[in-house]
Amino acid sequence: MTLQMAQLPLTKLYRPNLALCGPSLTRRYTSLLSSKLNRTSIFRTSSYTHARPLHSAPAWASAAAVLKRKYENAPLPPTSESPNTQEVQPVPLEHLPISRIDERKVVIGFDTEDWARFHHVWLRDHCRCPQCFHPVTKQRLFNTFDIPPDIKPTKVESKSTGLEVLWPSSHPHTSFYPWSWLKQHSYDPPLPQYQLPAPEKILWGSRIEQFPPTVAYEDVMGGDDRGLYKWLSNVEKFGFSFVTGVPPTPEATEELSTRIGFIRETHYGKFWDFTSDLAKGDTAYTTLALGAHTDNTYFTDPCGLQLFHLLSHTDGTGGQTLLIDGFYVASLLKELHPSAYDILSRVPVPAHAAGDPGCVYTTKQYPVLSHTGRDGKLTQVRWNNDDRSTMSHLSASEVEEWYDAIRVWNKHLTSPDSEYWVQLSPGTAVVVDNHRVLHGRSAFDGKRRMCGAYIGIDEYRSKLAVLKERFEAQANGDVVSTDAGGRSVWSPYL
Ligand SMILES: [Fe+2]
Ligand SMILES: [Zn+2]
Repeated sequence: MTLQMAQLPLTKLYRPNLALCGPSLTRRYTSLLSSKLNRTSIFRTSSYTHARPLHSAPAWASAAAVLKRKYENAPLPPTSESPNTQEVQPVPLEHLPISRIDERKVVIGFDTEDWARFHHVWLRDHCRCPQCFHPVTKQRLFNTFDIPPDIKPTKVESKSTGLEVLWPSSHPHTSFYPWSWLKQHSYDPPLPQYQLPAPEKILWGSRIEQFPPTVAYEDVMGGDDRGLYKWLSNVEKFGFSFVTGVPPTPEATEELSTRIGFIRETHYGKFWDFTSDLAKGDTAYTTLALGAHTDNTYFTDPCGLQLFHLLSHTDGTGGQTLLIDGFYVASLLKELHPSAYDILSRVPVPAHAAGDPGCVYTTKQYPVLSHTGRDGKLTQVRWNNDDRSTMSHLSASEVEEWYDAIRVWNKHLTSPDSEYWVQLSPGTAVVVDNHRVLHGRSAFDGKRRMCGAYIGIDEYRSKLAVLKERFEAQANGDVVSTDAGGRSVWSPYL
């Protein structure tokens, strides 16, 4: 059954429900301050390199042919003329959304409160039929630039599983979009109550010592990946997590690291196994205390996760580990010293790693607090006062202001309210989100053997996203994945 709504005046029907709020605002355990933090980006790739034009173009045609050969045995979903309704939750007929074609947009009334419009060109560009979007590689096959700017559907029809759109062409083309996917990706206006909830972030201070996020090694290494999911979810929420019961060997620790993803090789090596012998030109390789810092401030892309594990400490004491939630301290700064927050968000801090004759890494363009996205929320803390380079780029009027700002930042960072000190022992590894949580240590004597690794932020996000797909199928019928053919073309990540 199709309900046409051409006669209904949109201005009367469109009543955005301002009383509804996003799920992130209703979460019980998220602190007030954490609501200011953004949702974590997901690992995504975009590629237009395999686009297939509607007219002949030898290079693209050959790319499409290669893909076809490579995946010719892969199961293809039904064509857009008969959408795969097994993947999509049907809507009862009495709740069927209504749809109509406007001059530049398709207007959809999901219910009396929720209306959204989608530009014709946007809909055509997002066709996910097997001719337009490869069902295995999840890459666009269709050439966006073949879409006439004034394209307009000849017909739209509300089906129980989604919207069907017929496009004019010498070869008429039918597109299909599940209702849940349209709601999730609505932009005119956004319908936040249908969009994926922002990841829960729990900001913490020193009292985290009462309930430090911890998982057991045997759970993390378990074949069903649930322990791994718990571990990475801890990292997403708290910015760090312990793993207990790890065999105190480099081999077991390396295996633990690779549960998350590829180890990132740097000038410190790939998997580290080191002691205080200054084997590398960095204070980490001494017995000196290390103030709270993030690693790799001198890289364009500082490592995402850092895993470390104390394998042994003999003939001495000290060497407590320090962890500080940089997002928590930043939120304090924003509330109490907004001008300092602004300066730390604005002024780039040059940094270097130059202790080894064979390398010199430098960056000059990144501030202490980085914000990305349209919402401008905090996404990364970079802070290592020891690695800071010459500050010759400030104007004369900015110098004292900047030193005042880092002084107040350092005051909150080193406050007993912020610092979480823990004495690690062999068998307990910790993984830290180096974009959020700062780490340090007290001085020690005797001989300590540490091992560990860096893991890229994209590897971590990808693994977490895959585990979310598996363990958190959307309760509202959204398409997340299909087991048989891999990820659905309607996955919210695409
Ligand atoms: Fe470090
Ligand atoms: Zn198509």
